[in-house]
Amino acid sequence: MDVQVFIGLLIGLATMIVIWFLRQQSYWRRRGIPHSKPMMLASLTTKHFTQILRETYQQFKGTGPFFGFFLLATNTALVTDLELVKKVLVKDFNHFSDRGLYNNAHDDPLSANMFFAETEQWKRLRTKVTPTFTSGKMKNMFHMVTAVGERLMSTVSAWIGDGDPQGLGKLMDVTDLSGRYTTDAIGTCAFGLECNSLSAETPEFVLVTNSFTHHRRHNKVVEGLIFSFPKVARFLRMRIMPQHVHDFYIKLVQDTLEYRKRTALRRNDFLDLLIDMMEREDADGNRIEGLSVNEIAAQTFVVFLAGFETSAITMSFALYLLAQHVDVQEHLRQEINEVLASNDDRITYDVINQMGYLQQVIFETLRMYPIVPNLMRKAQSHYDTGDPKYYIEKGTMIIIPTIAIHYDPEYYPDPERFDPARFTAEEIQRRPTCSWLPFGEGPRNCIGMRFGRMQTSIGLIYLIRNFRFSTAAETEIPCPMEKSSFVVSPQNGIKLRVDRVEDAKPIERL
Ligand code: HEM
Repeated sequence: MDVQVFIGLLIGLATMIVIWFLRQQSYWRRRGIPHSKPMMLASLTTKHFTQILRETYQQFKGTGPFFGFFLLATNTALVTDLELVKKVLVKDFNHFSDRGLYNNAHDDPLSANMFFAETEQWKRLRTKVTPTFTSGKMKNMFHMVTAVGERLMSTVSAWIGDGDPQGLGKLMDVTDLSGRYTTDAIGTCAFGLECNSLSAETPEFVLVTNSFTHHRRHNKVVEGLIFSFPKVARFLRMRIMPQHVHDFYIKLVQDTLEYRKRTALRRNDFLDLLIDMMEREDADGNRIEGLSVNEIAAQTFVVFLAGFETSAITMSFALYLLAQHVDVQEHLRQEINEVLASNDDRITYDVINQMGYLQQVIFETLRMYPIVPNLMRKAQSHYDTGDPKYYIEKGTMIIIPTIAIHYDPEYYPDPERFDPARFTAEEIQRRPTCSWLPFGEGPRNCIGMRFGRMQTSIGLIYLIRNFRFSTAAETEIPCPMEKSSFVVSPQNGIKLRVDRVEDAKPIERL
């Protein structure tokens, strides 16, 4: 091709892209809907996304059920009205059953997991694995988690040793500790794996899984383009999973499947349910459609990813808040001791449910630090919100700003104050639905909520019964957040002083 023609075509294409981009940026203005300024990616390097959510929510709340927001080239509606939140997540879920995240089963198998999946694939997976997360199943897994809780306690005890020479308590990164604990709990409950993170010098599972949230394959610009133009990205065979994460999980699942087949082992755990869904041949040699090894690896990965860090960070922030509020910590310790004493110091599933104050502490922690700070949905069809001006066009991204709602003084007066009393049954009743969303809401809410709450509760019971947590000069208050991560996560871990509770009685397990 003639060089001049080629350059002309290139300029023409670039001009068209610029015109299209500018038109996208004027979308909300043309519709007369209040909107924030188009967000430059540079602002994400100076501010955490949660700060942008909180600032814009406060600025636009009350102007309508939602306001316009820009995520690179995607038109986004940021919802401020809780009635509309309920419609999107629950009542009219059929219009909003996708998260609008990028997945590419062909070139990037781990991305085709339940969290990222689009409606049809998601429905199939969710229906199949839901039975693993019922309260009956939780009771079965309970003793496995308490066994890890006991190891958590002995790990801390060994670490403290003879204590700090000045009697101040030993300095410990509780984020690292909690991550090791939840990884071991999920590994054993969901997959029958001994991850040995609590005892290992370098906890391989924690490091590999963390790589996805903290060390992304692409920078924010490339990632933004992938999410904005999924069809083009799929055509270009773009991947989002780091290579070593991919290799680790594919090998892990291949080896575990092979082992279960060889030993005919059946644990009725999450992995067995996925194995039941595998493609195979019937007695007549006909192929039965089902999950491939890659698809199983994707679900395994997402359960580790969604399950370990969320609960671990929740535990860490709970300890961080308890270290700053010694009265709350003492109150909690007293409740744990009293409830356990009334059950012969034996820990059971029902005992945890009797610890109302513990649940209040966890709920208030998740209000202040909702690990997933916003929920995402994508409109599958044109949607009428009831206000003719505020219709939602097919393809629009919807953001529910959980963290901004949690800090809205209309629902939580003096929102910067840590106050578990906000979560008594009466106080919860007083607030509108969808004003507390750390686990999402509706058919696509967190499938592992019961497990997450159970492992967080067990971890805290073992720690608070046996140790005292206090702040040190090294404790950063307020806690700086990791800007590169899309979950709420402490940038430098959380360092606290840990001291033994001298007269703590042992916890009995069944
Ligand atoms: C404190 C702990 C946890 C928190 C705060 C949390 C939070 C969340 C949130 C906010 C969502 C999105 C919900 C929505 O869009 O409406 C979610 C989804 C999900 N979570 Fe959790 N999670 C936790 C623990 C767990 C655990 C322990 C597991 C697995 C064992 C898990 C597995 C999942 C999965 C698979 C999804 C995707 C569900 C779907 O798309 O159908 N999570 N989680």
